[in-house]
Amino acid sequence: MIKQIIQSTKLYCIFGKPVSHSMSPLVHNMLFNEFGIDAVYLAFEINDIKKGVDSIRTLGIKGASITIPFKEHIFEYLDEIDETALKIGAVNTVINRNGYLVGYNTDCAGAVEPLKEALSENSLEGKNVLIIGAGGAARAVAFGVKKEGGNITILNRSKDKGEKLASQVNGKYLSLSEYNEQASANNMDNYLEYIDSIINTTSIGMTPNIAESPVNHELFDKKMTVMDIVYNPLKTKFLKDAELAGCKTIDGLAMFIHQGAAQFELFTGIKPPHKLMRETVLDLLKSK
Ligand code: ATR
Repeated sequence: MIKQIIQSTKLYCIFGKPVSHSMSPLVHNMLFNEFGIDAVYLAFEINDIKKGVDSIRTLGIKGASITIPFKEHIFEYLDEIDETALKIGAVNTVINRNGYLVGYNTDCAGAVEPLKEALSENSLEGKNVLIIGAGGAARAVAFGVKKEGGNITILNRSKDKGEKLASQVNGKYLSLSEYNEQASANNMDNYLEYIDSIINTTSIGMTPNIAESPVNHELFDKKMTVMDIVYNPLKTKFLKDAELAGCKTIDGLAMFIHQGAAQFELFTGIKPPHKLMRETVLDLLKSK
């Protein structure tokens, strides 16, 4: 399947720790092959992101994906940060423009695009969105939703982090445990009416804890669009509960595919077919 690697082959990569689970090499190499691009994408597990950035400059690496734990720490080593990445406080893509390194964030668009596609009128304008979690992924989702005109409520376990993110996006903060208590006591009727969408950005429900969900199932109402960023398993308890309540659901692969597609477009200028990317990832997940 791999084409010839020759002297002109361009190098792209991912930097993270760990990277052994990453599906990005599979997807980007498949797309390079598909579009006949003389490039290869490799995974590098590193300890020091400064050295990673130095290697981009030294080796002339054309573009890099940045993942945990470096997304927030790479800023100072780059030459320019795109506006969205600056607001979110995280870079997940670096583009090398003849030695001038620019940082971008495609997680934000990756979360917002599938959500917009699933909502009525393809728009988040004026929609009420409940975001569960207040970590790095929640920040990307929250800034994306805000940029598109949505109203945000942050539901989080720890108050300080939850309140901080809520205030940064002019949203409200609610305690996750109090919220679940209210839901189980069936006291949510007045409130739930106003929620258009719920997004889980925490790792709750991820393998091996597949019986867990961040919220009580009473929370769901059939008018809602419900999205999870966990893709392992593809159908989390959170999404199963939502589906049972009649909600429209978006699985965790949607964000992965959309952010990867936006990244490939930054790498090559080509908008790749999402369907092909999804099939490639599903084949990998099935074979595991
Ligand atoms: P990431 O960058 O991937 O978003 P993170 O920064 O560690 O990861 O953030 C994880 C988020 O999931 C946090 O908001 C965390 O809640 P706290 O702020 O209270 O730590 C939330 N989270 C993770 N595991 C959780 C659990 N078991 N119960 C409730 N919240 C959890």
